[in-house]
Amino acid sequence: MDEKIDLKKVARQHVEMDMFFVGDFALAEGLTGVPDEGEAGGDGAAAAEGLAAIAAEVGACCKCGLGESRTNAVPGEGNPNAKIVFVGEAPGADEDAQGRPFVGRAGQLLDKIINAMGMRRSDVFICNILKCRPPGNRDPRPDEIIACLPFLQMQLALIAPEVIVALGAHAARTLLNTNQAIGRLRGRFHDYYFSPDAPPVKLMPTYHPAYLLRNYSPDNRRRVWEDMQKVMAEVGLEMP
Ligand code: URA
Repeated sequence: MDEKIDLKKVARQHVEMDMFFVGDFALAEGLTGVPDEGEAGGDGAAAAEGLAAIAAEVGACCKCGLGESRTNAVPGEGNPNAKIVFVGEAPGADEDAQGRPFVGRAGQLLDKIINAMGMRRSDVFICNILKCRPPGNRDPRPDEIIACLPFLQMQLALIAPEVIVALGAHAARTLLNTNQAIGRLRGRFHDYYFSPDAPPVKLMPTYHPAYLLRNYSPDNRRRVWEDMQKVMAEVGLEMP
């Protein structure tokens, strides 16, 4: 029988168990304490503190084998009060070298997309599903995703963005717990649940900038731009 794994549930249980044993209740609260309505964008100072604590944990993490081969962990960076969080797949060689997300060629294209939306990189938060580089930039493995996902879940819960943009198939499929193709998922909002009893946040899947670089056709660029225009409308950003 093909039993479907509920990744989100597994990850939540994993982090709750972890926090229970480690006793870091501040972080555990960050995960389960889903922001109240009207708190989107949340308390910047508290979020910044929580994000710094998560970054420190990521830096010391050895929960999967990637901890051994990394140069630097890449927890993510940006505005703790961001209305939009961009989530990619995993750090590549440039990111691993610098400890910062999306700083290579794909990152330069992401910067252009963010600028085209009328924002600076520092206005948003940028991170990945995996916080360490898979050797040779291979695809993330399920065990690595399960080990790493609690960090991202805590980051999202602390930032409490209005919209999450999932860059590429790995980010979209992981956050939406589905196997559907990115071509089918992109172009419309989906619901991302912090927890089963809290209202969902809107999630827009779109093509990964690296895919776009490899397939730089007018059609693909138009598709990504249409996706971003929907995101802009959702957060009340005017066309620049
Ligand atoms: N690709 C990603 O998915 N993330 C990065 O940080 C860089 C490239």
